Amino acid sequence: MFETVPAAPPDPIYNLTTECNLDPNPRKLNLGVGVFKDDAGAIPILEAVKTAEQRIWREEETKNYLPIDGSGAFGLRVRQLLLGEASELAADPTSITVQTPGGTGALRLACELLARQLPNARMWISDPTWANHGQVCQQAGLPFASYPYYRPADHAIDEDAFFAVLAGLGAGDIVMLHGCCHNPTGMDLNRAQWDRVRELAQRRGFLILIDIAYQGFAQGLDADAEGVRLLAEAGLPLLICSSYSKNFGLYNERIGALTCVGLAPDVAARVQSQLKVHARTLWSSPPQHGSRIVETVLGDPELRRQWDNELARMRDRINQMRGLLVETMQEVGSAADFSFIARQYGLFSLTGISSAVNAVMRERHSIYFMSTGRINVAGLTPATIDYFCRAYQAAISEKA
Ligand code: LMR
Repeated sequence: MFETVPAAPPDPIYNLTTECNLDPNPRKLNLGVGVFKDDAGAIPILEAVKTAEQRIWREEETKNYLPIDGSGAFGLRVRQLLLGEASELAADPTSITVQTPGGTGALRLACELLARQLPNARMWISDPTWANHGQVCQQAGLPFASYPYYRPADHAIDEDAFFAVLAGLGAGDIVMLHGCCHNPTGMDLNRAQWDRVRELAQRRGFLILIDIAYQGFAQGLDADAEGVRLLAEAGLPLLICSSYSKNFGLYNERIGALTCVGLAPDVAARVQSQLKVHARTLWSSPPQHGSRIVETVLGDPELRRQWDNELARMRDRINQMRGLLVETMQEVGSAADFSFIARQYGLFSLTGISSAVNAVMRERHSIYFMSTGRINVAGLTPATIDYFCRAYQAAISEKA
């Protein structure tokens, strides 16, 4: 029966890890998948998380199912992180949160809802965007198209082209925006641009979905939620897909959330009921360990302080690596100007390194990053950055 099943291409991000793991070169570098690495190149478990886990292990009395939409306490914490600790909207009964297996689970759940309930829905995703966004829409049966976002020539947001497309959208269109730390470009909307998005959404009637997977990795928890809060406070209906993989380092615990705000009370209740049907058929009820950790850390003032500090240290390290990368590229004599890397935020930079140079860096130096030129800046350390920059220089001369 499976004779006619065609082979699917390997995942462009995960496959880099598979290939890198097979590479025997001791100097190999994996700058592919977006995970935070410390100065020693390790993917650490946060101290606040370890302490929370010990407490959970001591106190947990059952592994009973969570409700279909997850833990209510976790949902409130999620909304407070997104909308502000004192936000009335966070506590409003019309604001709903469904706990999901990772941010991807939240995206898939949102797409299921849109595809089933809005017959003319069309999702608009950023060009470029995370390699999985289009695929998630497609698998949910949700038509999608791309809006222009980035101008590679000067490593800037293509503001005119972006707003021109948004100005032509209307009811039925859903615009997916990256809340902060745009993946893969590292270029985020500023306050004035978020405000223009708000104005267009109000005028044209399109819906906004925000994917926020890196809150706290750019400028801080509150600053990074500026766009979410500006739109939510304007009263716009919003779908927000959030992930705690990166800012809590809980990658394999699969913890995320889909939050809906700005809906009328009866609409919110109906939407919530449909989301529960979708969740029930996708994963039935969510895994608990990640949500218990997040709830425990955020619910204890001491652990919360510790997490804030650890998050700040992760953020600082990413920003230091950005600065060091720009400097080291200059030191090794690169003719290209990489100063834009220091103006971007989050784990990723779209370096502009061509796929041909990328292939040489992989073959000769065992450096793995996406053929689009995206690198995970946090995959570099003070000990490896020189190796990366020299490999780049060597590959450029070979290709020149
Ligand atoms: C990435 O873009 O590398 C991360 O979001 C991890 C993933 O799941 O792809």
